[in-house]
Amino acid sequence: MDIQQPLALLGGLTPAQFMRTYWHKKPLLVRQAIAQFEPPVGRAELFALAGEEGVESRMIQHKKGQWSLRHGPIPRRSIPPLKTPEWTVLVQGVDLHDDATHALLQQFRFVPEARLDDLMISYATDGGGVGPHFDSYDVFLLQAHGRRRWRIGRQKDLSLRGGLPLKILANFVPEQEFVLEPGDMLYLPPGWAHDGIAEGECMTYSIGFRSANRAELAREVLMRVADEAGDEEDSPIYRDPKQPAVDRPGAIPAQLQEFARDAVQRALAQPGGLERALGECLTEPKSNVWFEPAEAMQMLEGVALDRRTRMMYDERHVFINGDSYRAGGRDATLMRRLADQRFLTAADLARASDDALELLSAWCETGWAHPDPQS
Ligand code: SIN
Ligand code: CO
Repeated sequence: MDIQQPLALLGGLTPAQFMRTYWHKKPLLVRQAIAQFEPPVGRAELFALAGEEGVESRMIQHKKGQWSLRHGPIPRRSIPPLKTPEWTVLVQGVDLHDDATHALLQQFRFVPEARLDDLMISYATDGGGVGPHFDSYDVFLLQAHGRRRWRIGRQKDLSLRGGLPLKILANFVPEQEFVLEPGDMLYLPPGWAHDGIAEGECMTYSIGFRSANRAELAREVLMRVADEAGDEEDSPIYRDPKQPAVDRPGAIPAQLQEFARDAVQRALAQPGGLERALGECLTEPKSNVWFEPAEAMQMLEGVALDRRTRMMYDERHVFINGDSYRAGGRDATLMRRLADQRFLTAADLARASDDALELLSAWCETGWAHPDPQS
């Protein structure tokens, strides 16, 4: 993507300008971000997805001042009549299940893949919504069908209403209000309070991001570093020829503490070890993702990543679906191109080494990628 090219999606800003001025900083309303927007997933498809095992969905209803929340799968018969006001069904990660939705999410790849999360779709009847709240993540709220009134504010008081199954602000103070029509889009940085209320039947597509939590990231990265350290062959054994006799046998020897400290520091100091662990964590598929293996086949005419595949790279590695590979030279250039554009053409493949071709075929066999004559 040319990050210096003005985009209608960003109201005529270039991705570079948007990231500099708005991203993580202030909201942006874009009228007709996608003109004549034809939502790839409509009401019927959304309800069908909400009923499936392995698809993350929720139904929220607001009745006589009471909020109720039900987690999916939500069978069609449990969805209230369309004439009943104030309910909403939300389906997370629709991009994992639908190619056109996945393609729509790709328009936002001026943000690193490592930060992009998923595309959620909500359907609401008149008055429906999830209540005033704030998210810890950036979000683009793209109006797909009908109208929705968004009220937003910077909200100092983040206290929540007690005793509810969902997080609803106790004292929401809206500062701005917009009614979004199909194709309009509102960008909100993390922490901005918002309340979107459907005006008649309404569908909203939310492009969501993920932000690592420091403690969780430390746990995940350290677990992988620990696995790697545990595989070290001929690892030295603790020796203590100078250990004196002790009259307090319960006390841990300081020398053993030092040995442990050194072991951990060495594990973390393995060249590229932390970066490798991070790449593997970031490309680990979500727990509800699985791939369908395919027959071995030739792919002379190009290859495209499966929509569920996560692929990234760093200076020394390429990462795909939680696996890492060391890559250098021409093959690294090729694999980085695959991660960036998610496909390789026949011309790209003609320059690939036998090792790279073998790896690509293996990924096609596991269902991580597919032969693609259109690439
Ligand atoms: C919705 O689509 O109703 C909720 C989106 C959000 O507030 O993040
Ligand atoms: Co929200």
